[in-house]
Amino acid sequence: MSRIQQYSPKINSAGVVAERFLPQGKQIQGALFDLQVQTATFDVQAQRIDETYLYVPQIKKDCHQLQNRRYIGSKQKLIEWIFSVIELECENANSFTDIFAGTGIVSAVATKHFKKVILNDFLHSNFAIYNAFFSNEKWDKNKIYRIIDEYNTINGAYLEDNYFSKYFGNKYFSVDSSKIIGFIRDDIEKNKVNLTTKEYYILIASLLYSIDKIANTVGHYDAYFKKSRVEDQFIMKPVDPLETRQVAIFKQDANVLAKQINTDVVYIDPPYNSRQYSRFYHVLETLTKWDKPELYGTALKPAPENVSDYCKVQAKYRFAELVRDLNSKYLVVSYNNTYDPKSHSSKNKITLQEIKDILTSKGKTKIFEKDYRHFNAGNTDFKNHKEYLFVTEVK
Ligand SMILES: C[S@@+](CC[C@H](N)C(=O)[O-])C[C@H]1O[C@@H](n2cnc3c(N)ncnc32)[C@H](O)[C@@H]1O
Repeated sequence: MSRIQQYSPKINSAGVVAERFLPQGKQIQGALFDLQVQTATFDVQAQRIDETYLYVPQIKKDCHQLQNRRYIGSKQKLIEWIFSVIELECENANSFTDIFAGTGIVSAVATKHFKKVILNDFLHSNFAIYNAFFSNEKWDKNKIYRIIDEYNTINGAYLEDNYFSKYFGNKYFSVDSSKIIGFIRDDIEKNKVNLTTKEYYILIASLLYSIDKIANTVGHYDAYFKKSRVEDQFIMKPVDPLETRQVAIFKQDANVLAKQINTDVVYIDPPYNSRQYSRFYHVLETLTKWDKPELYGTALKPAPENVSDYCKVQAKYRFAELVRDLNSKYLVVSYNNTYDPKSHSSKNKITLQEIKDILTSKGKTKIFEKDYRHFNAGNTDFKNHKEYLFVTEVK
């Protein structure tokens, strides 16, 4: 008898499992933010380019790929433009740092262009995800698939309540799914001695991606939809690790790491407003750390951790320090002009003019812009939203 079957009965219906693998197409239930976009007061002429870089994401039905994630500020849809600019502007560059890496999608493409890539983000969940997708340590695919198959036989109705279900049951997830999620997370920890580091993180990342597909939210965990009964069906799918060469992974404050690294290109994509990533993705953080802290408030958040200065008034000073301390040939900075005048929290923390001035102190700076059509679930087109890319050739 397998390890999991000892704890719980089998669902034992191939039909049920197959059906659960269907894409969660109807999941996005509202806009992330109710944006009303204004044009930024930025009078510098930016350049537009023809995009030459072709990025074709692989589509695999039965596993989660790096980009299959709902994440605020993900550059997935801008990746071709970003790399077209980098290809054009950053000559003789062999190494690349993604210092606010978020989903890691920029690094994933960078691994195809640069010999060495460094990823960094201070969130625990992102660190786990990078280790799962990017680390070139050994892992046993059959072993991982076997463990996940076993997890998918668990029936929540037969499990006792646990930490995860006590807090999140019938809130972010159904009672049964949250019992299964908590049970699996406990089991990964108990089984850690039998796993390589990469295998451990592959299981955690697979759990994180899988819960994200069913979460009763608009895509982040600042709130959940209030329902008398949350209905969902949890199924765990494995992540699909990338083929990588030389990759280094960090979980540090960007300003601390800046003093320790030296690569040809540093890509800088900080938060743009006062919304803290650690608070928006707290459920993923809690599930990754698994130190079972007390949770507070309606949204059930832990005590604050990894609160970013880039979301506060001091953002421009931190940015200036970062730029000063980085040792590289090129700095590439993403920023946009989107904010909602009705919502103070969405206002940009650094102005585009301030970014330009700070970067110009480090070297010759070019600015590229792209209209970016931002849609909400109702397909409303938010006009005048521009993405900017600043490229500085360091003196
Ligand atoms: C705009 S997102 C990056 C998005 C990313 N480029 C992508 O395509 O997915 C900013 C990221 O910076 C991280 N972050 C914020 N402040 C940080 C800090 N001081 N040090 C390290 N990471 C930080 C957040 O956790 C978040 O993932």
